[in-house]
Amino acid sequence: MTKNIILLPGDGIGPEVTAEAKKALISVAKKFGHDFKFKTLKIGGASIDEFNNPLTDETIKACKKADAVLLGAVGGPKWDNIEPHLRPEQGLLKIRKDLGLFANIRPIRLFASLKDTCPLRAEFIKSGIDFIVVRELTGGIYFGDKLTKRLDNDKMWAADTLAYNEDEIARIGKIAFSIAKNRNKTLCSIDKANVLDSSKLWRKIMDKLANSKEFKDVKLTHMYVDNAAMQLIKNPSQFDVIVTENMFGDILSDEASALVGSLGLMPSSSVGTSHFGLYEPISGSAPDIAGKNIANPIGAILSASMMLRHSFNLEQEAYAIEVAVENVLASGIRTADIASDSFVPVNTAQMGSAVAEFIAAQL
Ligand code: IPM
Ligand code: MG
Repeated sequence: MTKNIILLPGDGIGPEVTAEAKKALISVAKKFGHDFKFKTLKIGGASIDEFNNPLTDETIKACKKADAVLLGAVGGPKWDNIEPHLRPEQGLLKIRKDLGLFANIRPIRLFASLKDTCPLRAEFIKSGIDFIVVRELTGGIYFGDKLTKRLDNDKMWAADTLAYNEDEIARIGKIAFSIAKNRNKTLCSIDKANVLDSSKLWRKIMDKLANSKEFKDVKLTHMYVDNAAMQLIKNPSQFDVIVTENMFGDILSDEASALVGSLGLMPSSSVGTSHFGLYEPISGSAPDIAGKNIANPIGAILSASMMLRHSFNLEQEAYAIEVAVENVLASGIRTADIASDSFVPVNTAQMGSAVAEFIAAQL
């Protein structure tokens, strides 16, 4: 199978971890006889430095033509003081919006061999942690009307609007219900319907989907976002699939990732209605450790696995990456973020090579 993949390594640790995900993909291609063609382009600060623009039209065009996009991370202190519309993060928001990637899927799973890295006491995680956050990605408060102005009394005033229309809610709901249908048939929708109108509408549309013929077998529950933040710590095992608004999902998924050892382990996919997708680790650019070859590449590597499954329909190949990651971790190979006292940490490239080699060696 021939596939065109755009790599957008971006900033900070982005290039380091993307290189390791590419290693895994090359290993898969070799093992299973595929032809993956890679093209590397710029996004975020790297693109600002070259083009004075966090995401050029040419890059968007190239992504639209490709079969999938693998992204590293954007942002860093170097670009913190530039005009807001030119910030590296704008490149990321724009690519999500322009490519119609309204659903961000973030699996949160505690690997058996990493139980010691979970900050919760053993009694809280007896039933394990394995759930999926489905975050709305191209609407809500990130994309609503914004305004900053000076008032008559010379004080500044600023506003961001949290708005959704029912179609936007229904389409993310359908994705979450479909995922739930293929897992344990339970879905928890998280909102702030005791205060926000947008959440009241969100709840109504989710209820409507729950009563539809297609999703009748999925049990829908609702939870307020403040309670959800607490429940994630008190009883993370209760969750299987979560669906929520853009900013709630941003915050809750960072919180959730802290439960499973390290942000560096977490992959994500951003998808729309087709097989096309953008895949990225959720760790961000981690400027404090950038360029040191110590970042954990597993989030990026597992993002590549999500790409194989969703965009290319290559289930066996996706699984081969997951098995490799599990085995490498179980064999005690750890990057610094997940190495407790008894481990000598490996570096980013060594971790990537260990995974690539395991893929090659699998029967
Ligand atoms: C994420 C990040 C981004 C977001 C930032 C970098 C704009 O935090 O992907 O979760 O808020 O969506
Ligand atoms: Mg975030």
